[in-house]
Amino acid sequence: MTMSYTARLLVVDDEEFGGAAADAVLDRLPERSPRLGIATGDTPMPLYVELARRVRAGEIDVSSGFLIALDEYIGLDCQDPRSYAAYVRTRVGAPLGIPAHNILVPDGLAADPDVEAAAFERRIDDLGGVDVQIAGIGSNGHLAFNEPGSPLESTTRAVALSEQTRADNARFFAGCSDVPHRAITQGLGTICRARSVVLLARGATKAAALAAALTGPVGTEVPASVLQRHPAVTVIADRSAAADLSIRHH
Ligand code: PGA
Repeated sequence: MTMSYTARLLVVDDEEFGGAAADAVLDRLPERSPRLGIATGDTPMPLYVELARRVRAGEIDVSSGFLIALDEYIGLDCQDPRSYAAYVRTRVGAPLGIPAHNILVPDGLAADPDVEAAAFERRIDDLGGVDVQIAGIGSNGHLAFNEPGSPLESTTRAVALSEQTRADNARFFAGCSDVPHRAITQGLGTICRARSVVLLARGATKAAALAAALTGPVGTEVPASVLQRHPAVTVIADRSAAADLSIRHH
């Protein structure tokens, strides 16, 4: 099977992952006021560690940039260490020297999550959009918190998390019952408006979802498949995540 669209696929060893991801991001990131879309979770951590290393080494300076989060749990305060606001601030913003006022994350405690979601969508537009969106993929094919069934043109909105996603994320909480049931997430349409996307996948639990997203039909059952319609996607996968891909790559 071949990919009929133009995504670039790099299959790398574990120790190369952070470096390959950093190269892919920086390749597409403007030097002045870069607007970087941030995914949370385990997968992108080697990328953030490598970007921080390059900042410390004086190889790059992204301190004039903006960080824009993909999503946030509804019900978590931005000071809660399990919130994505805390993740973006402490694991990405601080190490990269990006001040808190240049970090955009939906407010998980907003009185009306639908109003907050619409305002977040406008904030992205007002900033001029996302230059490079870093994304992961869920074991169920979700993209950000766009679970299976999400409309391909969707914008930022309040959503219910699937039981699969709550179970997958239980490791970050005291247990599954502790994982919030709802989130505010950028929509699939929002994500597709980023100028380029770097999709990251690590580990065998992502293999089936990655293969379905890259080589299956585009449709709401596999939300990440919408990226087949995006003109500038780089996919970086470790060997376990790429195991179900039967595509030719160079
Ligand atoms: P993970 O999450 O990086 O923690 O596996 C990815 C995702 O669910 O999008």
